[in-house]
Amino acid sequence: MTRYAEEAVSELQSHWELDASTIYLNHGSFGPSPRPVMQAREQWSLRLERQPMKFFCRDMEQLLEETAEILAAFLQTKADRLALIDNATLAMNIVAASTDLTPGDEILLTDHEYGAVRNIWNARCQQSGAKVVSAALPFPPQDESVVAAIEARLTPRTRMIVISHVTSPTACILPVKAVCAMARRHGVPVCIDGPHAIAMLDVHPEDIGCDYYCASCHKWLCAPFGSGFLWIHPRQHSGIRCPIVSWGGSIAGRPASWKDRINWLGTRDPAPLLAISAAIEFFSAERLQTFRHYSHSLICSARRKLLELPSVSTFCTPDESDFVSMCGVELPQPKGWKPGYHGHPDPLQLELRDQHGIEVPVGSWNGRRFLRLSAHLYNRPQDFDTLISAIHKSELLT
Ligand SMILES: Cc1ncc(COP(=O)(O)O)c(C=O)c1O
Repeated sequence: MTRYAEEAVSELQSHWELDASTIYLNHGSFGPSPRPVMQAREQWSLRLERQPMKFFCRDMEQLLEETAEILAAFLQTKADRLALIDNATLAMNIVAASTDLTPGDEILLTDHEYGAVRNIWNARCQQSGAKVVSAALPFPPQDESVVAAIEARLTPRTRMIVISHVTSPTACILPVKAVCAMARRHGVPVCIDGPHAIAMLDVHPEDIGCDYYCASCHKWLCAPFGSGFLWIHPRQHSGIRCPIVSWGGSIAGRPASWKDRINWLGTRDPAPLLAISAAIEFFSAERLQTFRHYSHSLICSARRKLLELPSVSTFCTPDESDFVSMCGVELPQPKGWKPGYHGHPDPLQLELRDQHGIEVPVGSWNGRRFLRLSAHLYNRPQDFDTLISAIHKSELLT
């Protein structure tokens, strides 16, 4: 059943200004903004340029607070638990810097975590003599077995569990609430890496029961690039340290807050952060549902067609209910195939880009090769038809 109105979708599609020579199927990596959000960002930058002293020294903290209030309502939380920050990477670095570690301590990740997140914790552990432990999740990862696999790797030295809400390499939605409930029984804090979940899913950090939630808003919420947040439970506020050391206090002379060390990271344009509210306004409740249903229907139909190809399989999400707007399918590995890596993509990704104008990631994870499909409101069924026909023609599958 179609649970969106075609007219609503086509009206919404008119708000994006994508390069017509490219078929953009990688919203999961970088999510372009609709025009009203770009305009809001430009307006904020203009206001800064007109009177920088007033903007930075008197207005900015209050404006960030007002934006945090709007974001807090969207996340059903309180603004005093939210700091606005450029991206999930910076948020995760702050959590790592704020985690006390001594030699022999352990940070528990899953084997589906984002490479840069793994790097952050490896670096933090190297500084302190702690170590990163990786829980191998069952394949494909189903809820109860995920919790059991993580619980099995806990030890008395585990200082934090770090887990994606929606994984990047495998596009799985992980049962973060159940993981937090299990971790609470063991007294271990949980940090959720959530950039893909914002707007794709309803995200309520309080209800999830985590200690930290790191997110970028420039993916599925379509806020400007360079916008995200760090949500922290009050029980962790006093321990917050920022790896970027600056003034550390309120520039406007407001009462001290744990956010002071994050609000001022040196002089920079906070327009992307302030335009988060325009993205939330753009995705009124009804539009959010339209986005989810429409993108899901595009992905389901593309996935069904891809699964008809010989040796293409479901990868990590066996059922259509296992994903929303992003999923992976497993591709065969031709003779001599080697996994691509950062900066050196799989040849099929390059062929799709260079010969067909399609931007879509072909990745590898644990020695498996997969195509990650993303769909947003601006995509059309014919984008995926072009992809499928290009894949049919490719000689890089067998
Ligand atoms: C699961 C996950 N975590 C963290 C990040 C880092 O996000 P950002 O580059 O916005 O900091 C990404 C980016 O794709 C991601 O997919």
